[in-house]
Amino acid sequence: MKFFIDTANLAEIREAHGLGVLDGVTTNPTLVARENITTRDAFEKHIKTICEIVDGPVSAEAVSSSADDLVAEARTLAAIDQHVVVKIPMTTDGMKAVHRLSEEGIKTNVTLVFSALQALMAAKAGATYVSPFVGRLDDIGHRGMQLVEEILDVFSNYLFETEVIVASIRNPLHVLEAAKMGADIATIPFKVIGQLASHPLTDAGIRSFLEDWRKVEKGMSLK
Ligand code: G3P
Repeated sequence: MKFFIDTANLAEIREAHGLGVLDGVTTNPTLVARENITTRDAFEKHIKTICEIVDGPVSAEAVSSSADDLVAEARTLAAIDQHVVVKIPMTTDGMKAVHRLSEEGIKTNVTLVFSALQALMAAKAGATYVSPFVGRLDDIGHRGMQLVEEILDVFSNYLFETEVIVASIRNPLHVLEAAKMGADIATIPFKVIGQLASHPLTDAGIRSFLEDWRKVEKGMSLK
């Protein structure tokens, strides 16, 4: 299972990379806006810097509406670095763009996927990745992880090469369920990556071992 980090924050990406668990990065316009990036040039440089930190796929989102504009924007984004994957919204124009980009060898991540049929359409159009947004479904009272299960089930019936990125992750249980289902990738916020490595019993155990070791050291210093 691959772990991506869902952020545009360079410090978070560097920190997660240092843990040795990072296979890629996903960004979106909201995450980029949090980094106070205000010019196109600064945005492209930022994406390039992320690509230099992480030796893996880095999703950058296209924001055009028409297929022609999405293709033109995707070409510009893909030219930033060989690791750039272009995020394309799940619309009919998006699908036309994905189809054309796949023929050009430009990798795509179809985003804002909320049904298994959308994922099937994206895979048939030639998407490299599809991103079901589980947290946003949970937010409105649906079961986000059920969608992932359905997509994996449908894809397993055929020979699609499209990989499933579990996105909009809110908590460690989303990651655990994704792993149990065999999802290809989870794109995880920085805070949740930290939570994956933590357990209160680990912390309590370290504290009590340290206290006992101080007693041993005290005894040693008396000799
Ligand atoms: O990868 C998709 C993600 O960025 C959306 O997450 O938390 O805005 O639903 P969220």
